[in-house]
Amino acid sequence: MTPPHAPRLTRDLPAALGSPATGSTARTADGPARVVVDLDLPGPTISRHLYGHFAEHLGRCIYGGFFVGEDSEIPHVGGIRADVVEALRALRIPNLRWPGGCFADEYHWRDGIGPREQRPRMVNSHWGDVVEDNSFGTHEFMDLVEMLGAEAYISGNVGSGTVAEMSEWVEYLTRADDSPMAALRRSNGRDEPWRVPFFGIGNESWGCGGNLRAEDYVGLARRYSTFVRDHGEHRITRIAAGANVDDFAWTEALMRSAPDGRAPWQAISLHNYTMTGPWEAKGSATEFSEREWYLALSRALRTEELVARHAHIMDQHDPAQRIALVLDEWGTWWDVEPGTDPGFLHQQNTVRDALVAALHFDGFHRHADRLRMANIAQTVNVLQAMVLTDPATGALVLTPSYHVFAMNADHQDASALATHVVLPEAPAEVDGRALPLMSASASVRTGERHEQAGDSALISLTNLSADTPRTLLLDLRGRRVVGHRAEVLTGESTAAHNTPEHPRAVAPAALTTVREHERGLELELPPHSFATVALQLAD
Ligand code: AHR
Repeated sequence: MTPPHAPRLTRDLPAALGSPATGSTARTADGPARVVVDLDLPGPTISRHLYGHFAEHLGRCIYGGFFVGEDSEIPHVGGIRADVVEALRALRIPNLRWPGGCFADEYHWRDGIGPREQRPRMVNSHWGDVVEDNSFGTHEFMDLVEMLGAEAYISGNVGSGTVAEMSEWVEYLTRADDSPMAALRRSNGRDEPWRVPFFGIGNESWGCGGNLRAEDYVGLARRYSTFVRDHGEHRITRIAAGANVDDFAWTEALMRSAPDGRAPWQAISLHNYTMTGPWEAKGSATEFSEREWYLALSRALRTEELVARHAHIMDQHDPAQRIALVLDEWGTWWDVEPGTDPGFLHQQNTVRDALVAALHFDGFHRHADRLRMANIAQTVNVLQAMVLTDPATGALVLTPSYHVFAMNADHQDASALATHVVLPEAPAEVDGRALPLMSASASVRTGERHEQAGDSALISLTNLSADTPRTLLLDLRGRRVVGHRAEVLTGESTAAHNTPEHPRAVAPAALTTVREHERGLELELPPHSFATVALQLAD
């Protein structure tokens, strides 16, 4: 039976059939490097949820990151770190995925409600084999989401939980009347139901989530999704646990079970991490060669290819694009910082990570028709974090990746614009693949839709060259530009990063090299840099 709900991701963000925003990179024998933007050809909406986040019970992401506890001397609200919230609010983070990750499939939500001192403990077997005291549970997470002004994306437990357990969690979270679970929530101090627009049906069910075969998972996903109920007017987008990297057979199995895009779930996920070495030696976050610089950027571009190929399979079964693709884990994965717990996945974050993020976003904007959510792994202190906190002093540092999210924030819910990069030189060849050393994407916001004065556009530009600046012509077509403002993010070296002692070694600065040109604007980009140009458009 078709579930009687309108899926949020598909309803709020209708697919623009037949008019995808296109982007291309071409070579011209002569002339300057150009980025051509058709300002008058808006494509699909870039869902704000493409700028989503992920927080797992892993290392110091929740404990010591988001949550310091009520006895901490660090300023907090109910144990949640105030400066972390403030930094993330500035990013306008649209959603937060929790509690995992692999942790989700061994998490039992009832252990994380009620008086903290009475909550049972458990072993976090995936991450450091540490004892989890469940002091951060459902109420704390929903408080955090409210403080962030974000939406909740909860990952349910398929691997070691029951259908009833998942169903009752949804009832506990979202039901308004005096049902048993709503009454239990009230007895724990929360009267009103919460909004939980996104619910994951397990995580990595092909691996840590149960080592299932695709056909077995599809059966379970149908069953579990069915009991993730829409209570009253509340609507949930159910996200089936999707493929790892290039496991196209997994996507095919899920989509075969969704003819014409009709299934008990409304989205399927995909996971892909960027690393330069094999699993056992992924590479250092801060000490890397020029070869590894280009290799990381080339691998980052691979995500777009994977999105396109999974989306192509989805198109065969769901040409109307009812089902969304959700890249709910992406980012760099390096060897842990020397001296830290290998199970805690704590890594530094350099200009290289920033450019990896920038390249991902360009690809996301180009595939905004099918790709409607993405979640960087992970927000605080784990993998490609936005924020690092010092365990000894509590000092908070914003990473270079944070600044890319901030500089790109105005792409959220804007319309993608066709953007073409034309370069005088042949692309570099890295790892047997072509790597153009310039990347770009753009979007437009209309005053009416976005409640702002007049229309505006945002262009994102990435100079991938490790050592060569780039003179660039922005060939702006279709609309008259009446004002511009540009920012640039770079560092002294490709490995530059921020520390408590040097928190602004990599931070945005005004780009002062922009000049008007008969075809638009001309500017200089430093080597290894990311820049944004905001345009004010004439009516
Ligand atoms: O983000 C770290 C881990 O990577 C997640 O727990 C898991 O889903 C993935 O393998």
